[in-house]
Amino acid sequence: MNSLFLQAILTFNIEQPAGFAARDIETWPSPSELDKIEVVSILTQINREWSGECDGERVYLRERLKKCLDHVDISVRNKGLLEVLNPGCGTGRLLVDAALEGVAVCGSDISIHMMLVANYMLNGGLQMHEWEIYPFVHAFSHWQNRECQLRAVKVPNLNLCNILSKYGRMEMGYVSFVNGYGPNVGIRYSSEYKFNPDIEVSRAAAKNKFDFVVTNFFLDTGSNMLSYLQTIQHCLKPGGIWLNYGPLLYHFKSEDETEAVFDISIPGGEIINQHGEVPMSGLELSVEDIVRIATQRLGFTILEREDGIVSGYGSPLGNNGLPGYKCHYWAMQLSQ
Ligand SMILES: C[S@@+](CC[C@H](N)C(=O)[O-])C[C@H]1O[C@@H](n2cnc3c(N)ncnc32)[C@H](O)[C@@H]1O
Repeated sequence: MNSLFLQAILTFNIEQPAGFAARDIETWPSPSELDKIEVVSILTQINREWSGECDGERVYLRERLKKCLDHVDISVRNKGLLEVLNPGCGTGRLLVDAALEGVAVCGSDISIHMMLVANYMLNGGLQMHEWEIYPFVHAFSHWQNRECQLRAVKVPNLNLCNILSKYGRMEMGYVSFVNGYGPNVGIRYSSEYKFNPDIEVSRAAAKNKFDFVVTNFFLDTGSNMLSYLQTIQHCLKPGGIWLNYGPLLYHFKSEDETEAVFDISIPGGEIINQHGEVPMSGLELSVEDIVRIATQRLGFTILEREDGIVSGYGSPLGNNGLPGYKCHYWAMQLSQ
């Protein structure tokens, strides 16, 4: 069933490629070992985002987002005009949940695997429980018994086909958060931050564009937290709200890789200063560091904050003996 499901995703993307260049899939090179690992882990991701079993993981942020959206003064602002950005949106579930609240929502992700799945889930006209997948079949540790490992999960847990017409505006971009939405100054040219005239225009267009930025299990994916924070500040409207939920399990913490980093001139994009090879790891800020920088340097005020919220990720708590992630939640408002 897993391979039939993955085949359906691929076929859909060949027949109805989205704007993020999933074209000519037949000409792509054979998958690398990393691609294969990604495909296995994406089954867990699909379970996390689209199964009823994992609703407990999603409800925490969904309820808080809904509460925030409901508190916006819609007597002066039409709710349908509210713009929400969800960077690192994975396969797009939070986009659906936000769009069902009637707001305009935009997602971005840098993983082609996520984008291919998202295109199918969001545009494939899926009925509720159309697919039965086996997300744990490739995981061999911690099981109480074999039935747990071989358990089937039905996805999606809502009728995407019928609710499509009720969506607010929804779009998704295959772009790194900093690259697509960051400021045109102050961030160095690196693997995360490129320069070309089109990107320069799109970053300028992102300035003060969004009423909400929602980071969900995303903050710890970056190698430079300061770039993420500057990008959130740049693309929020004055008075806009940043909702964050997730752990700080830094993805680059054990890497000894370095990358070339440059200053560039804006406009023009010429390299004006070369900083040589800079470590990818090393900016793994604590939660207090992040909150302090946001509030003392970037003009945010804390509206709500909770720490130590335990959550699973694609695997219900207690199911496999793992304690889960210790998550942080906050809502912060950018100064007017
Ligand atoms: C842990 S997953 C979270 C996915 C989804 N938000 C969720 O909660 O299920 C992190 C996501 O961020 C994406 N990502 C990592 N770095 C990114 C970047 N610089 N810009 C945009 N997306 C990024 C990954 O591809 C992945 O889909």
